[in-house]
Amino acid sequence: MLRSSCLICASSVEPFISFGKMPIANGFLTAAQLADEYFYELDVVFCPTCGMVQLGHLVEPEKMFHENYAFFSSTSTRMAKHFEQFADSVAAVLSPRSDPLVVEIGSNDGIMLRHFAERGTRHLGVEPSKNVAEIASSRGVRTISRFFDEDLAREILEQHGPADAVLGANVMCHIANIHSVVAGVKRLLKPEGVLVFEDPYLGDIVELTSYDQIYDEHVFYFSVRSLSALFAMHDLEIVDVQRQPVHGGSMRYVVGHEGARVASARVVRQTAKEAELGLGEARTFVDLRERIERSRGMLRQALDSLRAGGNRVVGYGATSKSTTVINYCGITAEHLEFISDTTPIKQGKRSPGAHIPVRPYAEFQRQYPDYALLFAWNHSQEILAKEGDFMRQGGRFLVYVPEVHLVDSDQA
Ligand code: SAH
Ligand code: TYD
Repeated sequence: MLRSSCLICASSVEPFISFGKMPIANGFLTAAQLADEYFYELDVVFCPTCGMVQLGHLVEPEKMFHENYAFFSSTSTRMAKHFEQFADSVAAVLSPRSDPLVVEIGSNDGIMLRHFAERGTRHLGVEPSKNVAEIASSRGVRTISRFFDEDLAREILEQHGPADAVLGANVMCHIANIHSVVAGVKRLLKPEGVLVFEDPYLGDIVELTSYDQIYDEHVFYFSVRSLSALFAMHDLEIVDVQRQPVHGGSMRYVVGHEGARVASARVVRQTAKEAELGLGEARTFVDLRERIERSRGMLRQALDSLRAGGNRVVGYGATSKSTTVINYCGITAEHLEFISDTTPIKQGKRSPGAHIPVRPYAEFQRQYPDYALLFAWNHSQEILAKEGDFMRQGGRFLVYVPEVHLVDSDQA
């Protein structure tokens, strides 16, 4: 049954959209697994009281984050650079302190923490997905393979002492028991310590109609307003916000103990901007739902007509986001010959739900298709820059964010 109360403030929530039955977004399948695939209802609800947009049905974390987790952070060179800069900015603040401790929640393959390890800074990664945690450890990043929550924060505090910085990227919005996580962070942070984290931003999802950000792992769609409500319940406050041009539009939040720091004017400005955008109002989500439905119609029409015209079309990037698009729009192996992806664990498997084959990037290069449906649109800069040959030979990218359109060598 659809949850009726908000995970943040317990007020009544309102339904926003139902995408129907969905598989696990990162649940790529071997032939033997095709028959008993797990499905849940992908629904989103909106809390008019605190403004948090959130899933209406939750998937157990253990079904998503485990020893076969398919998302490896270091597959994008642009993101590697981004996290190097993120680490540098934190290291600059910590440099005057003696023997600081940095804890990262959801540290994956060590893409960010390795920069602290290389500096010899005390650090600890918390990463429940064992396969990616092992990669981090093998790179010299100290990692424990557990789910972060208040109990674990207590253990970390006992063993390592209080933290100067707790970091997180694309993880806080994944955790349904967010109150336990925030309580743990509160406990772990020194009086002058900060929590610095970033996640896809609700304002960008609304502005870009990037509904593919909605899937099982993304329990929350954060705004400054809804997070301010959450942190206030734990005597923490947002002291700075910074837009980040990654993952289709993210926001970085700097959070401190209440009253410990002077908040930047950016926090007030961004909250006012959210009110202008209508992020707290039900009509915004009615409008977004209509745009999502229109987008689905246009994408299906484009793919149906490419198929009718006998074109070879492949998917580019077996992203988690693509699972929502493929299954919601009814895209099948009839539309896409295969999906090209550079991540070894996804290759040779079938996509969640629609069971489209996932093949190595070399297959894409071996014989360019006529069209590539750009599922990794958030990495378009990096991808368009390296796919000059494909486009010069007449290949085109079909993109659906912010609306359905084609990109050829003239526009790239
Ligand atoms: N920070 C990386 C990885 C993001 S993917 C990046 O931005 O690229 C989200 C990661 O969070 C996964 O590796 C997942 O295993 C981890 N995760 C999920 N729930 C968690 C929890 N409760 N505590 C710590 N990590 C968690
Ligand atoms: P990404 O968009 O980062 O995340 P999510 O899974 O959360 O939606 O996923 C990018 C996927 O695209 C990943 O499986 C690697 C793949 N990829 C390529 O195949 N080629 C590329 O050039 C890039 C940048 C990514």
